[in-house]
Amino acid sequence: MNKGTVAWESPSNIALIKYWGKKGRQIPRNPSVSMTLKNAVSKTWLSYSERNKEWLTFEFEGKNVPAFAKRIEKFLEGISEDLPFINDYTFHIKSENTFPHSTGIASSASAMSALAMCLCSMEEQVTGKKLEANEFMRKASYIARLGSGSASRSIYNSYATWGESVAFSKASNDYATPFSKYIHPIFKDYQDFILIVSGEKKKVSSTAGHALMNDHPFAQARYEQANANFERMLGILRSGDLESFIEVLENEALSLHGLMMNSNPSFTLLRPNTLQAIELIRDFRESTKIPLGFTLDAGPNIHLMFPKNEKEQVTNFVEAELKSLLEGGRYLKDETGSGPKLLTIANGK
Ligand code: DP6
Repeated sequence: MNKGTVAWESPSNIALIKYWGKKGRQIPRNPSVSMTLKNAVSKTWLSYSERNKEWLTFEFEGKNVPAFAKRIEKFLEGISEDLPFINDYTFHIKSENTFPHSTGIASSASAMSALAMCLCSMEEQVTGKKLEANEFMRKASYIARLGSGSASRSIYNSYATWGESVAFSKASNDYATPFSKYIHPIFKDYQDFILIVSGEKKKVSSTAGHALMNDHPFAQARYEQANANFERMLGILRSGDLESFIEVLENEALSLHGLMMNSNPSFTLLRPNTLQAIELIRDFRESTKIPLGFTLDAGPNIHLMFPKNEKEQVTNFVEAELKSLLEGGRYLKDETGSGPKLLTIANGK
């Protein structure tokens, strides 16, 4: 088959235990676990034909974005040993996100996982060899990891781990491992409201961020903490202990930012409104006993996490007390999602 199109949509994810620090070929320094989102997804269309001199075009939401195109080019060149057919084809790739720009949502996780799914489907098309479903997902997760570490986890629905750990023998550094079958019912439809404190572009790219861990004075302590938190979190996801969930969730978020603040160079990505919102969230939890916790990515925006049955109360709280701290009063409602979906697959001649 020398011509065809394939399209996938794939979600972002929010890390409960953070991947921060890597070595070698995208190998994480510590294990991580994330919840796959439902609404924040990338859609990617990949058309392929015989290789020409101009072998790659990339459009993001109808525009040429040279920085993204460069990253895709580097990625495709970097995986041509893993997927040798790449060298024989010209690629026209288009991608779009369902979530708005400038929200600080990890778009590399959704975009790279969608592209990895497209490439694995394309491999089946051009070689005529179909993989068994589990093998296909594992391969897609492996390829996604090479594009962006966190993307490896977006291949799976519900919850996924990535990175070796004595606490979970199935976990690997090479690809993510699904954790959905071990999950307590309370976590099956867990909510994540993303509070947009600032939509500014990230001050530190994730690649530069991970590099800060290389000479970090607390690196060893962090990896030990992450391993211990990972083990605790897997137990919590099984047991449904929400008090411990919040304790570990917030400890991970603030440890990530603590590490960035005392790195050299130092980054303070939390904004005054982030800190004010955190205080209000903790006061609300204290006074209402509603199990509302938060986490953060490498940016100022807050992910509010809570069980579905608290949705109305939490919405009222956000509207009344947090909205004025948010840029344009913006927040996105998301929740546990079901993973990538195939949109199109077609052979040409
Ligand atoms: C703070 O996966 O974006 O979101 O592998 O360099 O693409 P690269 O990094 P990336 O890092 C994510 C960092 C994090 C934590 C996490 O998602 O685990």
